Amino acid sequence: MKNEYIPHPAIIESIQKESFDTKTLRLVFEDRALGNSFDYKPGQFVQVSLLGVGEAPISVTSCPAQRPILELTIRAAGKLTRAIHELEPGDMVHIRGPYGNCFPFEEVKGRDLYFVAGGIGLPPLRSVIKSVFNQREDFARIKILYGAKKPDELCFKEEIKTWQQIPDVEVLLTVDEADESWQGNVGVVTTLWDKTDMVTSDGVAYVCGPPIMIRFVIEKLQNCGFKDENVHITLERYMKCGIGKCGHCNIGDKFVCVDGPVFSYGELKKLPEKERAIA
Ligand SMILES: Cc1cc2nc3c(=O)[nH]c(=O)nc-3n(C[C@H](O)[C@H](O)[C@H](O)COP(=O)(O)OP(=O)(O)OC[C@H]3O[C@@H](n4cnc5c(N)ncnc54)[C@H](O)[C@@H]3O)c2cc1C
Ligand code: FES
Repeated sequence: MKNEYIPHPAIIESIQKESFDTKTLRLVFEDRALGNSFDYKPGQFVQVSLLGVGEAPISVTSCPAQRPILELTIRAAGKLTRAIHELEPGDMVHIRGPYGNCFPFEEVKGRDLYFVAGGIGLPPLRSVIKSVFNQREDFARIKILYGAKKPDELCFKEEIKTWQQIPDVEVLLTVDEADESWQGNVGVVTTLWDKTDMVTSDGVAYVCGPPIMIRFVIEKLQNCGFKDENVHITLERYMKCGIGKCGHCNIGDKFVCVDGPVFSYGELKKLPEKERAIA
């Protein structure tokens, strides 16, 4: 019988530094056949572990078309993630998953898509953004609004330049605090609303970032005509098992690890206000 708790070894092929505290790891499973069949969807997460140190949920930032490669963007937040930041190409981590639900994809073909991210919120969205770009002609207008505290905290800076070249894709960036290198917008991500037309009746929004950002972004989206069921938010909660057994991640009657991490705002509104902690 398959034991869900047994992780699979994966080798770090390369490491990309995104900012002072964030790195993207490009991984290949030691068992290459597993890498080819590792069947994940954009929005899902994996449990990453270092033996003897710990385990944490991390969103997959690559897209399924990149298999057998698996990419994870990790911020050094505590014991495990700081230890992962010490690793070098050729070192090993362990992976189990993929877990959780995913962003809507097939069902939103033909519609306008709006991605709104803050800080380390872009990595989970990058998986669906890359998938959409792989089938660009299947979707209508695409807008990506991304903000970070400082210019050097923006992830995927070089890749974003290539996104800006794709037809009918608008990418707007902002930082809370500019430095001499920054020529762009200064202000929180919602200040980008003044720079573009966000009004829609059937657009689909994907949102990831800190709770305070999510709260104000939802308000802005509602004012622009987005329906609650068309706003998809990915949540972070403390997790242990990742598979609906331990109860660490529950909000109301939902487990974020199996019912989420992606929820529509329509679903979130039904959960207890204090526990959902976003709006
Ligand atoms: C579904 C999901 C997807 C995630 N995706 C990513 C990702 O793509 N990249 C990434 O860098 N991180 C991601 N995280 C957050 C990541 O899991 C935590 O930063 C990690 O668990 C920290 O582990 P640690 O042992 O290094 O830190 P710890 O020593 O456990 O904690 C360090 C600090 O972070 C806080 N913390 C730990 N876990 C969480 C959490 N879940 N929510 C809020 N605060 C927390 C602690 O209170 C403490 O202040 C995700 C979390 C979830 C639930
Ligand atoms: S993490 Fe154990 S139930 Fe969700």
